[in-house]
Amino acid sequence: MGSLKQQAGENHKAIGVIDSGVGGLTVVREISKRLPHESIVYFGDTARMPYGPRSYEEVRGFVFEMLDFLKHQEIKMVVVACNSATAAGLSYYQESIDLPVLGVIEPGVRAALAGSHNRRIGVIGTVGTISSGEYEKALRKKNGDLHIVSKACPLFVLLVENNLVATPEAIKVAHEYLDPLVAEEIDALILGCTHYPLMSDLIQEVVGPAIKLINSAKEIAAEVEEILGGNANFNPLSCNVPRFRFFVSGNPKPFEEVGSKLLKREVKAYQVQL
Ligand code: DGL
Repeated sequence: MGSLKQQAGENHKAIGVIDSGVGGLTVVREISKRLPHESIVYFGDTARMPYGPRSYEEVRGFVFEMLDFLKHQEIKMVVVACNSATAAGLSYYQESIDLPVLGVIEPGVRAALAGSHNRRIGVIGTVGTISSGEYEKALRKKNGDLHIVSKACPLFVLLVENNLVATPEAIKVAHEYLDPLVAEEIDALILGCTHYPLMSDLIQEVVGPAIKLINSAKEIAAEVEEILGGNANFNPLSCNVPRFRFFVSGNPKPFEEVGSKLLKREVKAYQVQL
């Protein structure tokens, strides 16, 4: 992870957060609950979403473009609030910018290990995240004695982005993806895509109450706090009011709708061509 440059006046800067779309807002929600004085600059690459089916190289290229944009936005760290982008190469991003860059897979693994009692863990994510095997590798590194079942759920992101979660089709699709995981007697299910907490009610209904859903957003927010705290880099309350700025590469309207509902504040997004 890049070092945090200690310069006078750094702490008023914002936390940069990126995702392919609205999913990363589930991470923003937790960061702003935990660190209400921090400003956030968000980029959702909605014009090129979903990232899940794309090659790792292509996704890395998109992330570099978002990082270039964020570099001009006065930021002090970056959260890659996208599992697909994290799986495509977190270390590349960390090497490319002289700021701390945090991904979402490690925090999710820690939360899952704390949440599972029978050591049978399910992982759901995009095709890119699941085929990278990054969750399995990170889980096994921490505990070699786990039964892990992974499943790509490519349609979930589209259901969320198109506001179709509360439909009978969504329930049907969720059963198709999740019933085989329930049959494996898992007791914890990692939501390995930041879009999935936006449909966690549906997922919980389909898998039943005995399976704990693992949303890594809280862990990520705690880690952001640790990084900023370790560098004495919190926003000093007295000198700045937190500001949220949202940028998207596609049509701002659907993003604003989902975002306002999720964050319970008016979300105004600006379209930017990368
Ligand atoms: N929210 C993202 C993730 O965590 C990206 C989903 C996508 O664009 O396919 O993987």
